[in-house]
Amino acid sequence: MKRLFSLLIAAALAVSLAACGSSASSAAATPAPTAEPTQAPTEETAPAESETTETADSTAETTTDGKTLVVYYSATGNTEHVARLIADATGADLFEVEAAEPYTAADLNYSDKNSRVSRQHDDESLRDVALVSTEVPDWDSYDTVFIGYPIWWGGAAWPLNGFVTANDFTGKTVIPFAIAASSGMGDSGTDLAKLAGTGNWLDGQRFFSSTTIDDIQSWLDTLGL
Ligand SMILES: Cc1cc2nc3c(=O)[nH]c(=O)nc-3n(C[C@H](O)[C@H](O)[C@H](O)COP(=O)(O)O)c2cc1C
Repeated sequence: MKRLFSLLIAAALAVSLAACGSSASSAAATPAPTAEPTQAPTEETAPAESETTETADSTAETTTDGKTLVVYYSATGNTEHVARLIADATGADLFEVEAAEPYTAADLNYSDKNSRVSRQHDDESLRDVALVSTEVPDWDSYDTVFIGYPIWWGGAAWPLNGFVTANDFTGKTVIPFAIAASSGMGDSGTDLAKLAGTGNWLDGQRFFSSTTIDDIQSWLDTLGL
């Protein structure tokens, strides 16, 4: 009887542990913040705000000829969701920047001081992430490039750094967009523009994972594309 009881307890424990498993590709994979990044993620329920950075006039020098490309890096799917909405609304092509070694849920756990992102956050020299490819087919044919990324510790997720440094944005209008739990764009767009060193970078826009096609369309209307 005692042995049967022990077996039942063990089975119950196994079932509850299995229920705790998670997938790196899930949009809900971001760990619950206990030790927060500089700007703590909270809820991602509010609609997109019409927030722009102070550095440029969004409507200035936006080109309308040529093709449009949406480049994005997305660790857990939220940026990809918004990138696809922008591509749908503009008829743009998509290019996904992928880490050669994708970030797992454990890698993204910023509450763990020893996780991949925490180590990279603490030591900038570790942020040079190898990418699957930085070469966009027919790059020269695009004159408008949207570039999207999640906010990590208040800045652009660093897997995108290698893409912007590897490409020549001369003659292109570049429009950053960021996805965050609660933070704004911060300096993420202007930091990427500095890294790139070329291109006409417009103000950025921060969205939440709950962004809809109507939010995107309203924003695009302000760009005059
Ligand atoms: C390492 C890490 C740092 C983050 N830092 C912030 C932050 O500073 N501010 C914020 O609002 N959200 C932060 N977040 C939340 C992400 O920006 C948010 O979950 C985003 O939707 C993820 O986009 P993705 O699914 O495309 O990867 C962070 C997430 C991770 C994994």
